[in-house]
Amino acid sequence: MNTNLRPRRLRGNPILRQMIRETRLELEDFIYPLFVEEMETGRKSIDSMPGMYRHSIPSLVEECGELIEAGINKLILFGIPKIKDPVGSQGYDDRGIVQEAIRALRKVYGGKLYLITDVCLCEYTSHGHCGLLNEVGSVENDPTVALLAKTALSHVKAGADMVAPSDMMDGRVDGIRRSLDESGYSHIPIMSYSVKYASSFYGPFRQAAGSAPSFGDRKTYQMDPANSREALKELELDLDEGADLVIVKPALSYLDIVSKVKEACKVPVVAYNVSGEFSMLKLAIAQGLMNPEVIEESLLSMKRAGADLIITYFAKELAQTWKGERRHESK
Ligand code: PBG
Repeated sequence: MNTNLRPRRLRGNPILRQMIRETRLELEDFIYPLFVEEMETGRKSIDSMPGMYRHSIPSLVEECGELIEAGINKLILFGIPKIKDPVGSQGYDDRGIVQEAIRALRKVYGGKLYLITDVCLCEYTSHGHCGLLNEVGSVENDPTVALLAKTALSHVKAGADMVAPSDMMDGRVDGIRRSLDESGYSHIPIMSYSVKYASSFYGPFRQAAGSAPSFGDRKTYQMDPANSREALKELELDLDEGADLVIVKPALSYLDIVSKVKEACKVPVVAYNVSGEFSMLKLAIAQGLMNPEVIEESLLSMKRAGADLIITYFAKELAQTWKGERRHESK
């Protein structure tokens, strides 16, 4: 061994370790997902996602007070309507649950919260697919894009700061961009779920949102987990169509994709730390199989891979934990 070269020299002191750390997690990295359900009051806990809730609007408003207090100021909202139908009409109804929630949050918190909305039909359709079905039960691309554009516009009219289409229809970024521009919203950014895989890691979310497809799967529109060059194709198309930020989803099993996407583009890259990744760790920690530091370790891996931002259900608890500790204390 060359005794001059001792990497351990840089590991012997906690302040030194902190000093030479290459990647850091910051509160500013986080976008927090929240579920809002069409109901009068209260909130329902989500069995599949410990610590997460389906909020009524009053409960959502209360929750956001706590979030602001903890230092979280970026949200992505998912709506759960009372009534679902084959065309997902509650998704683009100006009186729909997400539209009402945005108005309520804006009224109370003004510009203190940056409100992003998930734009998709699956939470609103009775069949649970992300678009309109034709007579043989497959999702019709172009008519779906028109409805997504309508949905995005109604969110923005209600006061959303940014829209995030998660449906994986071809051409939807273009469709949404045009509809926003035509109505005078050319300044509103689109954060596209550009690279979204057909993943089993969405299981807990589908239970939470009641959005599992009632038949079949999403493999005709979401990507095959075996493919990585295809991710670059999807990325290129979305950038051409005007995506301002791009999401890679899921994150943890797709860090190679996060890294490739980061190298291939110049826009901010967002990793979606999805429900399955969240619940997996929550359950393992609750069982005593791993200690809670595993949460930061898994989020750090996303930043190391190149993520500029992380959509994560862990945001609130981390923010509260960090607030309790002295942030950046040496470990
Ligand atoms: C809607 C949507 C889904 C998620 C985000 N937006 C579900 C899906 O595609 O089935 C999953 C998020 C998560 O698992 O945390 N299309």
